[in-house]
Amino acid sequence: MSGGRYTRITGVGSSLPERVVPNSYFEMIVETTDEWIQDRTGIRERRFAGPGETTSTMATVAATAALRSAGVSPQAVDLVIVGTCTPDQPVPSTAAFVQRQLGMTCPAFDLNAACSGFVYGLSVGDAYIRSGSADRVLVIGSEVMSRFLNMADRTTCVLFGDGAGAALLEPSDSPGIIETVMALDGAQADQLSIPGGGSREPASPDTLDAGRHFVHMPDGRAVFKLAVTAMADACVSLLEKAGLTPRDVDVLIAHQANTRIIVAVGKRLGIDLSRAFVDVDRVGNTSAASVAIALDEAWRGGQVQPGNLVLLTAFGAGLSWGATLVRWTAALPEGEPAFAQARAAADG
Ligand code: ACO
Repeated sequence: MSGGRYTRITGVGSSLPERVVPNSYFEMIVETTDEWIQDRTGIRERRFAGPGETTSTMATVAATAALRSAGVSPQAVDLVIVGTCTPDQPVPSTAAFVQRQLGMTCPAFDLNAACSGFVYGLSVGDAYIRSGSADRVLVIGSEVMSRFLNMADRTTCVLFGDGAGAALLEPSDSPGIIETVMALDGAQADQLSIPGGGSREPASPDTLDAGRHFVHMPDGRAVFKLAVTAMADACVSLLEKAGLTPRDVDVLIAHQANTRIIVAVGKRLGIDLSRAFVDVDRVGNTSAASVAIALDEAWRGGQVQPGNLVLLTAFGAGLSWGATLVRWTAALPEGEPAFAQARAAADG
């Protein structure tokens, strides 16, 4: 496959807040145990944003790292896409603040596909690059989930964390991004939602009292099952379209919501945990940032190498899901910190 205009990922970066929140924190505020959380989700700890940290500030740090690793200045970017369902504020877009913080002048917009935001963003960015409408697209996933959690609801508050990840897309004469898929089933919109604070239920003392501005998930078990089948089916159809099979996949980076979901998706594909990247134990479910953070950690940790076939897949509110198949091309530039060093430096 050559001779056309394709997209490749030339840099990746991520950012996690400093504050580590272990499962023991939730033992103090709801009826739960570290053992239950680890057993049912695989999560040991997650990060929560501190005062002054927002979706846009974390996005900016992740984007800066991605641009640096690609050797591209913010001013050279043509388009910024910020996947988020926890924007800094309803208006303007979080992308507007990111654009300002990075000193850019290019167009920028938010994309709300909840946990699928980064994978959706890769699809959109890929289309812009392949069509020739843009040469450098910055795709970011960033969330401050902690500010939308009902800390009295044990079925949701233990699941999520905060963070951001970013990737720079540039043109190439061979794929890079081989195939992408986006999917959505609006009939399942109520499975996972933040019902209050929009035009349907404008913020009022009543909506606040009722906790309508928090994450609602009435049937986590149903979401679990739908997540497994949707992500696995998306991966199979993507691989078929590309004339490849799960055996060809070097690294599976699935949405980091729950280790059991990742294992079940892998099982359906015939990909065991040795070929799957997992960081949900340390970061929890960071929604749109999840796949982007995992990709950055895997790349800087040496688990994603040039030449590898990397399969990304995500699932979230909408219900939305998607997948991206990538032939990895970016080598870690000399002097770029590996993930552990980058993290240690960021943590001071
Ligand atoms: N601590 C202790 N007990 C709990 C907790 C908790 N934090 N949360 C729920 N329970 C209880 C339930 O109340 C239930 O009790 P009951 O049997 O007396 O009613 C019991 O544990 C079992 O509940 P289930 O929902 O059956 O537990 P399950 O094994 O399905 O695990 C979980 C729950 C972790 C939410 C799982 O269903 C899941 O991961 N679902 C996917 C949800 C998800 O990740 N959503 C995020 C966004 S979508 C996505 O990213 C994929």
